[in-house]
Amino acid sequence: MSSDDFVIEHGLNPERMPNHIAMIMDGNGRWAKKRLWNRVKGHEKGAEVVREMVRTCRKLGIPILTLYAFSTENWGRPKAEVGALMLLLRRFLVSEQDELTRNNIRFNTLGQTEHLPEDVQVSIDIVKKLTRDNDGMTLNLALSYGGREEIIRMVKRIAGMVESGHMAADAITERTVADHLYTMGMADPDLLIRTSGEMRISNFLLWQIAYAELFFTRTLWPDFSEAELIRILKDFQCRERRYGRVN
Ligand code: FPP
Repeated sequence: MSSDDFVIEHGLNPERMPNHIAMIMDGNGRWAKKRLWNRVKGHEKGAEVVREMVRTCRKLGIPILTLYAFSTENWGRPKAEVGALMLLLRRFLVSEQDELTRNNIRFNTLGQTEHLPEDVQVSIDIVKKLTRDNDGMTLNLALSYGGREEIIRMVKRIAGMVESGHMAADAITERTVADHLYTMGMADPDLLIRTSGEMRISNFLLWQIAYAELFFTRTLWPDFSEAELIRILKDFQCRERRYGRVN
């Protein structure tokens, strides 16, 4: 089935689909706590939902999906939880490489991946290389990612060019900034979804979400589903996006 057929079958308009969806996957810990389980169980179920979302977005023909999997602040969590998240990530990279390849999905990361454990970095490099020519969809995993860190990194790079005489300060534009972010060359998110009822951005894609439509759902990430994503997309398609202008 083509992605347009899938979109139409679910009552969506193929001409008003977002180019880039970003998701803040929140609520794994609370999902586990409600069941008196260890938080790691919540992350395990969360990883299954990651798989489902990648599949669904691919079926819907979404060009870019960006998932906030591990923030710079998440390093402050208990060592055992960080270790469990790294293990899940590595398992995901190993188990999904075939599916990513088969479904023509390019795997990419945003963030300071050099801070991740060596074995995770190796898995990331393998999957990136394996999928680099795929053009059906880009899956960005934000890992050891922080929006402010990304901005500082961009400022340092541009300042370096100015300092070395390769660029005039006056010539800096929005494009210059965008070209020095982890998302260089990608369209900005049109839609940002956060699960678990929290109404915060939590240092995610601070520059890129300037005009994104924001959706907050009370659903905890492990309960998030294809059906709910489709409901959110219907709502998104009804929103009028004016970018500060009048219609
Ligand atoms: C937030 O829930 C979630 C995270 C910090 C990590 C997201 C990780 C996954 C969805 C699973 C692993 C990911 C991949 C890509 C395999 P929380 O722990 O802050 O929940 P809480 O606010 O209820 O405590």
